[in-house]
Amino acid sequence: MKFAVLVSGCGTNLQALIGALNKKRIAAEIGLVVCDRRKARALTRAKKAGIPSAFIDPARYPKREDFDREMVRLLRDAQIDFVVMAGFMRILSPYFIRTYRGRVLNIHPALLPAFKGGQAVADAFHYGVKVTGVTVHIADDRVDHGPIVLQEHVDVTAKDTLASLEKKIHAVEHRLYPKAVDLMARGSLKIEGRKVKILKK
Ligand code: GRF
Repeated sequence: MKFAVLVSGCGTNLQALIGALNKKRIAAEIGLVVCDRRKARALTRAKKAGIPSAFIDPARYPKREDFDREMVRLLRDAQIDFVVMAGFMRILSPYFIRTYRGRVLNIHPALLPAFKGGQAVADAFHYGVKVTGVTVHIADDRVDHGPIVLQEHVDVTAKDTLASLEKKIHAVEHRLYPKAVDLMARGSLKIEGRKVKILKK
């Protein structure tokens, strides 16, 4: 099994996946890293790990679907079986979701359906929640919406600052995402409507 990782930023989740692969904790390999920002740290991480990577320039594809068609072309060339979004700051088009239906994972730094969107950790912190967490879900054509694969909670204590909460959330992400990716790679996820059953193999 081969998967692609879609990134835009720092790539700490990509790094966690690389670490898990090196320890043989994921029954698959990364066939391609795709990035929409030329200078993203995630691209450097991919190169350092010897993983093929591609930068797609959004300026060349102003229409979302055209960008996604180029991405699908690259994923097909690389014989990618499933897709892992790791801090990818673009919304996938219905065309992309149709092409890889049920085979796209996303990670979100809150307990969905609470605090959707790009500022989830800050939104939850400023809202004053006592509990937040991490969600791994199947991506569908609505933002932060698809069926939930794994969730784990994180307590917010009186001592927490936004920075300390971000650190705690990231630590959970880096543990949870490799687990979810391995389940997908092993074909252990059965999607039934909004429910995802984890098959024991
Ligand atoms: C993570 O917090 C993830 O939940 C969100 O974007 C962030 C990406 O961080 N979707 P990194 O680039 O993996 O460090």
